[in-house]
Amino acid sequence: MKKAFIGVYGCQMNVSDAERMEGQLHSIGYVRTGSMEDADLILLNTCCVRETAEDKVYGKIGEIKHIREKNPGLIFGIAGCMAQKEGENLIRRAPHIDFVLGTNKVQELVNVVREIEAERGHVVDVSFSETELPEGLPVERGGRLSAWVPIMYGCNNFCTYCIVPYVRGRERSRLPEDVVKEVGEAVAKGYKEVTLLGQNVNSYGKDHGRADFADLLGMVDAVPGIERVRFMTSHPKDLSDKVIAAIRDGEHICEHIHLPVQYGTNRVLKAMNRVYTVEGYRDLVGRIREALPDVSLTTDLIVGFPGETEEDFSALLDFLREIRYDSAYTFLYSKRSGTPAATMENQVAEDCKKRRLRELMEVQNGISREINEGLLGKSLEVMVEGASKNDAGIWTGRTRTNKIVLWEHGDEQPGDFVQVRITQPQTWVLKGEVCSRIPR
Ligand code: SAH
Ligand code: SF4
Ligand code: F3S
Repeated sequence: MKKAFIGVYGCQMNVSDAERMEGQLHSIGYVRTGSMEDADLILLNTCCVRETAEDKVYGKIGEIKHIREKNPGLIFGIAGCMAQKEGENLIRRAPHIDFVLGTNKVQELVNVVREIEAERGHVVDVSFSETELPEGLPVERGGRLSAWVPIMYGCNNFCTYCIVPYVRGRERSRLPEDVVKEVGEAVAKGYKEVTLLGQNVNSYGKDHGRADFADLLGMVDAVPGIERVRFMTSHPKDLSDKVIAAIRDGEHICEHIHLPVQYGTNRVLKAMNRVYTVEGYRDLVGRIREALPDVSLTTDLIVGFPGETEEDFSALLDFLREIRYDSAYTFLYSKRSGTPAATMENQVAEDCKKRRLRELMEVQNGISREINEGLLGKSLEVMVEGASKNDAGIWTGRTRTNKIVLWEHGDEQPGDFVQVRITQPQTWVLKGEVCSRIPR
């Protein structure tokens, strides 16, 4: 058996693509290894959403140069968003890279690897045909209980800071029957939970018109044997009341919405081209919470967008205190060349961005802790995942609202559903005790 090392950077879409790449490598005789030194093939599925993401990959490319020197037969390829963005520049910069495969060429991996196995040489394929969807590919999933299922590719929104639409192309939705089929196949293999993936799931189906996102949620909810349905990411501009109703009415659809706001003032939102206003967002959150009283809301926030003032920043903190997210991913604005924001005036100084990020995280962590403390004594439904990373006696799982729960292991098994009474809520995790098994 030949061995492949697959390194994955970036978002869940990249994780999902890598599972399809691994499936293809498996079909031509590669098994996965966790060690680059052991590998016959190294594939990095890369991200370029922020400069730090690219820096990590360039570091890895450097490391692999030494491994390649010791193992001249090694095949080394770059896929994903950085591959799409840089194309053959990557090989010019690092000639020990054998192939560069764009984001819309996942299905070409087998051909490319075979070509290099046969006659070495470099292959670069970053061509982009938006009519082609990567259907019918074998998939080697990472998890055993929870499956990533892409429902659409690409993005049409062109937020002014963001590189994703340039490297992922325009929105293309999979057909509802293909999504439902994949979910059914995952369930048949023992998966209990699926997460439907897209850069903006709420605009699912606008291209083919065969079903909208609310319809799709209903169809996936009805797949026999599915226990939990999750989805991300929701762009606030088109999360409709119909979608909210579908979440409320679906038996298995989890009450968690990742609803990135990015910023908390209209001036900055406009400059970011986010299309909604603070008032519109507030109103949407009100409608969500009215329909789904136990919902957890999470968000993404960017500090240091060009032109951000102290006034903007303090209004952002007020907005956070008002909305009260369960948690937030917070990012320093990173200039991406080719995007409109990269050439905007009044770029914010690095030390100022960092200070704001620290303050922002402090405020949000306080809110996260307060919300979790409100769960003290409550009994929550948890899907058992298994032993925690650091302590085999402490097991972990998630609530429907996507909060991580820890408890002392009894006799429950991965995939069981249990009620856990929360005894020690913390900022990032909830500690508790299993009080009963939920029969399924
Ligand atoms: N499609 C999703 C997210 C894609 S990227 C959405 O619209 O929410 C994930 C997150 O990275 C974004 O939500 C944003 O907060 C952040 N991000 C994107 N471009 C960035 C940049 N240039 N600098 C810093 N953060 C960025
Ligand atoms: Fe980027 Fe905006 Fe598209 Fe999300 S919606 S991927 S932030 S352009
Ligand atoms: Fe990164 Fe591409 Fe995802 S740029 S965040 S891996 S879509």
